[in-house]
Amino acid sequence: MTDVAVVAREIVLPSPASDGPVAGSVAAGEQPLITEAPGEVLFSTEAIQRRVRALGAAIDTDYAAECPILVGILRGSVAFLADLIRTITVPIEVDWLAISSYTGHSSSGVVRLLKDLDSNIRGRHVLLIEDIVDTGLTINYVMRLLQERQPASLKLCTLLNKSARRIADRPIDYVGFDVPDAFVVGYGLDYEQRYRNLPYIAVLDPALLP
Ligand code: IMP
Repeated sequence: MTDVAVVAREIVLPSPASDGPVAGSVAAGEQPLITEAPGEVLFSTEAIQRRVRALGAAIDTDYAAECPILVGILRGSVAFLADLIRTITVPIEVDWLAISSYTGHSSSGVVRLLKDLDSNIRGRHVLLIEDIVDTGLTINYVMRLLQERQPASLKLCTLLNKSARRIADRPIDYVGFDVPDAFVVGYGLDYEQRYRNLPYIAVLDPALLP
């Protein structure tokens, strides 16, 4: 018993301590999982976890007794949804949609459905979980698609809101953080499939872009 507790303490992962931006790398004295951040750290692991807990509490209150289906949009929302559902105490279900809209760091403007839901959402309360809303075109497409299936309600929760480049403006019901007009990576968000495993969110150094 004691041994298990000790092992569990030893594998707690170190992470940036600051809530605010940390230039270039994680805070001095901390041991990052990846040797160097690929740019300025915008949101530390702790700041993200605190915000995720607050969103979970709000969802708990709003959906008590409704057993919503939380629909994650692959692949960027995996980390967020995985953490978020563990802060929610009311009954929920989880389903996934896969969408392709970006190649590299700029939008192709074309949204494709790669994987549909497994659940029938007619008459159900649906909460879409997105990593980031940028132009809004992806979420606009997905919400129109799901609305046609006549859910009892359809709401949107995004970890990040990059409103500067918005084209399709839809109300967002739950927002984790507002972000500036910059390309961000980490905590599920990628640049060409990399950086999803960073436990914090950083602005990708433009020098790393082509
Ligand atoms: P939108 O259609 O322009 O709103 O783009 C939404 C999708 O683009 C997100 O689900 C992300 O996959 C991707 N995306 C937009 N901005 C960023 C970013 O700064 N970093 C990583 N992915 C992004």
